[in-house]
Amino acid sequence: MYARSAARLLSAQTRAFSTSSARQTKVAVLGAGGGIGQPLSLLLKIDPLVSSLSLYDIRGAPGVAADVSHIDTDSAVKGYTADQLDEALEGAKVIVIPAGVPRKPGMTRDDLFNTNASIVRDLAASVGRVAPEANILVISNPVNSTIPIVAKTLEKAGVFDPRRVFGVTTLDVVRAARFLGEVSGSDPKNTVVPVVGGHSGATIVPLLSQNAHGKGISGDAYEKLVYRIQFGGDEVVKAKDGAGSATLSMAYAGAKFTNALLRGLNGEKGVITPTFVKSDLFASKGVDFFSSNVELGINGVEKIYPIGPLSAEEEKLLEACLPDLKKNIDKGYAFVA
Ligand code: NAD
Ligand code: LMR
Repeated sequence: MYARSAARLLSAQTRAFSTSSARQTKVAVLGAGGGIGQPLSLLLKIDPLVSSLSLYDIRGAPGVAADVSHIDTDSAVKGYTADQLDEALEGAKVIVIPAGVPRKPGMTRDDLFNTNASIVRDLAASVGRVAPEANILVISNPVNSTIPIVAKTLEKAGVFDPRRVFGVTTLDVVRAARFLGEVSGSDPKNTVVPVVGGHSGATIVPLLSQNAHGKGISGDAYEKLVYRIQFGGDEVVKAKDGAGSATLSMAYAGAKFTNALLRGLNGEKGVITPTFVKSDLFASKGVDFFSSNVELGINGVEKIYPIGPLSAEEEKLLEACLPDLKKNIDKGYAFVA
C-alpha cells in the first residue's frame, strides 16, 4: 500500500517515474548497502519499469535485498555478497554505481580520487567482461574523473560504447530547480534549469537565463543562487558533520535519472535531461566529457544538445568550468593509462 502510494506520489510530483512504456528491465546497484545505495534500491523497487533488482556491495547487500524485497511491487530482488559480483551483473541492462567513499567536511570531491578511482575502475572492468552492453550510470565521486576512468577501462577491454556511459549530474538539476523555486516562488516541479559542465564546484554551470523565472535574477541574488547550486553538496556535508554527504536527495536524483533512461531505452521519445557523457561540444578544447541536455533513447544517448544561448555571466562561468573540467578528466585518463 505504502509502496503504491509512494510510487503515485513520486510520479505525480516529479513526472520522473513515468510508466508510459510496458517493457521492463533488470537493474543492478553496485554499492547497494551504502547511504545512497539503500534508499536508491528502495526507489528502484517502486519503479514499475524495473523488473528485477540486483543489489551488490562488499558488505550488507543481502540484508538490504531481503528488506526491500518485502515491498509489494512486482519486481524480483536479489542481494549479492563481495565474491558474487559476476552473478550480480549477469543480464543487467542498467548498472548504477554509488560505490565508494563520501566526503567529510573540509574535503573536495577530488580528495576522494585516491580511494574511489580504483573501486570504480575495478567495477567497470567487471561490467565490461560480464555485461558489456549494459548502460552504466556512475554516481561515485569525483564524477568528472570517474566517468573517464570507466570509459578508458571499457575502451581497454574493447567494449566502450559512448552512448552507454553516464555521469549522474541530476542532483545539480534537482537543486537548481529547488533553489530557484525558493527565491522566485516558482514550483520546483515545473522549474527546469539546464545545468551543464561537470559535477563539482566551478565545473557546475547552471543556465538560469534559460528559465523564465531565472532570467530576471541579477546582482547579489544571482551570485548567491549560482553559488548555492555549485556548492549545494557542501551544505549537506557540513550539516552531516562528518557522517557523509547527500544520500537521500541523491537517491531521489539517481532514481529519477534511472527512470528517464529506462523510458528512453523502452522507446519513449523526447526524454531529455542533462547528463555527463562523452561529448564533442568542447572536445576541441580538450574536454572530452561534458554534461548538457541529452536525449535518451533505445541505444542510450540518442542526441547531445548544444548548450544554447548564454548570458554574459554564464559565459564567464563556462570559461571557469572548462580548464577545471579538463584537469579532472585528464586525471581520470592518466589513472587508467
Ligand atoms: P557510503 O559510504 O554510505 O556507501 C558507499 C558504499 O559503497 C558502501 O556500502 C561500501 O561498502 C560500498 N563499496 C565500497 N567499495 C565497494 C566495491 N568495490 N564494490 C561495491 N561496493 C563497494 O557512501 P554514499 O554516501 O552512499 O556515497 C557514495 C558515493 O557517491 C561517494 O563517492 C559520494 O561522493 C558520491 N555521491 C555522488 C553524488 C552525485 O551527485 N553524483 C551525490 C552524492 C554522493
Ligand atoms: C553532492 O553534490 O551532494 C555530491 O557530489 C556529494 C558531495 O560530496 O558533495
